[in-house]
Amino acid sequence: MIIKPRGTSDILPKDTPVWRKIEETAREVAGLYGCGEIRFPTFESTELFARGVGDTTDVVQKEMYTFLDKDGRSMTLRPEGTACVVRSVIENGLSGEAMPLKLYYFTSCFRYEKPAAGRYREFYQFGVELFGAETPASDMQTIALADTLLKRLKIKADLKINSIGCKGCRPKYREALVSYFKQYENELCDTCRGRLLTNPMRILDCKSPICGKIAENAPKTIDYLCEDCTSHMENLKMLLSDAGIGYEVDPGIVRGLDYYTKTVFEFIAPIDKDEKTGEIKYLTICAGGRYDGLVEEIGGPRLPGIGFAAGMDRLVAAMKTSGTEIPSNIAPAVYIAPLGEAAAKAAQKIVYDLRSKGVYAECDVVGRSLKSQMKYADKIGAGYTVIIGDNEIETGRAVLKNMKTSEQTEIKLDEIDTIISKRGQ
Ligand code: HAM
Repeated sequence: MIIKPRGTSDILPKDTPVWRKIEETAREVAGLYGCGEIRFPTFESTELFARGVGDTTDVVQKEMYTFLDKDGRSMTLRPEGTACVVRSVIENGLSGEAMPLKLYYFTSCFRYEKPAAGRYREFYQFGVELFGAETPASDMQTIALADTLLKRLKIKADLKINSIGCKGCRPKYREALVSYFKQYENELCDTCRGRLLTNPMRILDCKSPICGKIAENAPKTIDYLCEDCTSHMENLKMLLSDAGIGYEVDPGIVRGLDYYTKTVFEFIAPIDKDEKTGEIKYLTICAGGRYDGLVEEIGGPRLPGIGFAAGMDRLVAAMKTSGTEIPSNIAPAVYIAPLGEAAAKAAQKIVYDLRSKGVYAECDVVGRSLKSQMKYADKIGAGYTVIIGDNEIETGRAVLKNMKTSEQTEIKLDEIDTIISKRGQ
C-alpha cells in the first residue's frame, strides 16, 4: 500500500467544514481590516529564503525541501509566506501603490521538521502582511486583526509580545550574547557553535534541548533596547491596553526567522488534551512581527512591514480543544426514493430539477431496495423523504415525510421545493 509522506495529512470530508469555517472567517476579518488577497507560487528560487528568512536559521539550514530543476537551478518549496509576498510586492511594483498596502493569503508551507502533535512537514497558514507603516499603531492593528479572528473562532489564546530591537540596538545585544554563550561553547550543538560567530541570536531558538537549556538564562533583548525601540514598545502596549486586548510581555520570544525587527508576538493556545491524564498541550497558533529591513534585503526599496501567520492546522486543533462548536457537513433537504423502473428514471429528473433550483436533494444511484434506501436517507440525515412509484408519477402527487417528526403530507411533486423552503427542516 502506498501511504502519505510522514508529516503530511489528508483532510477528509468530515473535517473540511471546520477548515472552511476558518477560511471564511479569516477572509471576513481580513476584509474588515482592508486587506486584499495575494497568491504566489509553491516554489521559489532557494536564494529568496536564504536571503529573506536567513541562512543561519533552522528553517533554511535544516528544514527546506530544496531541489535542482531540470535546468540545474536551485528551487525550494516555500517554507513560509512572508518572503514570497515580499518578492511579489517588489516584482509587481506594488510598493508604488497607496500605502499602507495590506495583504492576506492562504498558503501551504513545507518544512522538514520532526513531526509531532501540531507539527507537520506540510502545513497550512493564513497570513497577513502590512507594508508602508512603521508606527506602533500599525503593529496594534495587525495584532488586533489576529485577535479578532481568534475571538470570532472562539479560541481562547494568550497574546505574548516582545521587542527584539533594531539595527541600532543589535550590536550591543549581540556582544552580550556572544560573551554569555562563549562560556558554554563546548556544550552547544555543532550548528550553534557556528552560529556563535555568524548569528548568535539564532542559538536562542535552537531545538536541541541542551542549547535550549543554556539559552534560558541568556541576556534578553528587552534589556538592550535603544530609546526609539523602547518608546515604540511602550506605545504599542498603551494602544493594546486602550483597545482592551490582553497581553503579556514575554522577553523569551525571539522568533526563529532572521527578518524580524522591533515588535514580535505570539498567540498561544491549548491544541490538545490527553484523554487519560487530562494534560493540556499548548502551542503557538499564530505568530509574527515587524520586518523593517526585509524588502530592502530582497532587493526592493526601503519599505517597512509587519505581519503574522496563523497555523491553520493548529487553529483547527485549538477550536476542537476549546470546545468551539464545529460546523458539520450539510445534510440533504430531501431524499427521493423511487419504487420501480419508471419511478427510478423520474427520480433522476426530479432531483436534477430540485438541485437546479438550489435544493440539496438526493436519490438512489446504486440500485438499492426501497427499505435500504430509507435506511440510507436516515443515515445521511435527510430532512424529508418522498417515495414515488407508478401511481405518484401518473397523478403528480406524493407523500412528503418529515424525518424528524414523522409527519406526512400529500403534496404535488412539482411543489417539493416551495413546500420544503416554507417549512424548513
Ligand atoms: P512561523 O512562526 O514560522 O512564522 O509560523 C507561523 C505559524 O505557522 C506558527 O505559529 C504555527 O502556528 C504554524 N506553523 C509553523 N510551523 C509549523 C509546522 N511545522 N506544523 C504546523 N504548523 C506550523 C512564519 O511563518 C512567518 N512567515 C509569520 C509572519 C508573517 N511574520 C511576519 N509576517
